[in-house]
Amino acid sequence: MIFTVAIDGPAAAGKGTIGRAVAARFGFAHLDTGLLYRAVGAKGGDPVLAARGLVPADLARDDLRTLVAGQAASRVAAIPEVRAALVDFQRRFARAKGGAVLDGRDIGTVICPEAEVKLYVTASAEVRAHRRWLEVGGDVSVVLAEVKERDARDMGRTDAPLRPAIDAVMIDTSAMSVDEAVAQAVALVAAKLGEME
Ligand code: CDP
Ligand code: CDP
Repeated sequence: MIFTVAIDGPAAAGKGTIGRAVAARFGFAHLDTGLLYRAVGAKGGDPVLAARGLVPADLARDDLRTLVAGQAASRVAAIPEVRAALVDFQRRFARAKGGAVLDGRDIGTVICPEAEVKLYVTASAEVRAHRRWLEVGGDVSVVLAEVKERDARDMGRTDAPLRPAIDAVMIDTSAMSVDEAVAQAVALVAAKLGEME
C-alpha cells in the first residue's frame, strides 16, 4: 500500500510528536525532514555553503536539535540548490510501499502534493516557544525570538515557503494535550484508510 501522511507547520507545533505517534499506530515509516536541513546546516565543511558565509564551521559537532542548529537549518533551507538536492530522497520515502509519515514545512505543498492525508499543525508562538523552552532551557524570551525569527524566514522565502496546502486539515494544538492532538490526527488517517478500502 502507498499512503502518505504529510505534516507541515511552524517550529515546535507538535509535528514530530504527532508524526511519530501516527507512524507507530499504523505501522508507517516516519521521516522528520527538518533533520535533513539541520544536518546540512551543521555541515560546516560544505564548500558551497561556506563560500556563501552561511555555515559557521563550529557547528559541525553540535547537536542537531539545538536552537543554533535550527537557525543554521533555516538559513540553508532558503537556498534553492539545497532544497532541490533533498527532493528525490523525500519523495521516494513518501511513496515507498507500506505507508509513510513525513513532517516538515513543504511536504503537502511541494514534496508530496498527492499525499492521502495533509495536516497543518500549529499553535500560538508563545505556546510553541514555551514547549521548546521546556526541552532546551535557557532564557524563554530568547527561545520565543528564535522561534519567531525562524518562522518569518520559513514563511517569507521564495522557494517552498511554509504555508498550509489548500487541502490541508488545520490542527491548532495551542490548548490541546499531546494525546488530544494525536487522537485527532489518528482519526483523520483512519477515516481516509477506511474510505480507500
Ligand atoms: O516537530 P515540532 O517541532 O513541530 O514539535 P515537537 O518536537 O513534536 O513538539 C514540541 C514539544 O511540544 C514536545 O515536547 C511535545 O511533547 C510538546 N507538545 C506537543 O507536541 N503537542 C501538544 N499538544 C502539547 C505539547
Ligand atoms: O523541530 P522544528 O519545527 O523546530 O524544526 P525542524 O522541523 O527541525 O526544521 C528546522 C528548519 O529546517 C526549519 O526552520 C526550516 O527552515 C527547515 N525545513 C524546511 O525548510 N523544510 C522542511 N521540510 C523541513 C525543515
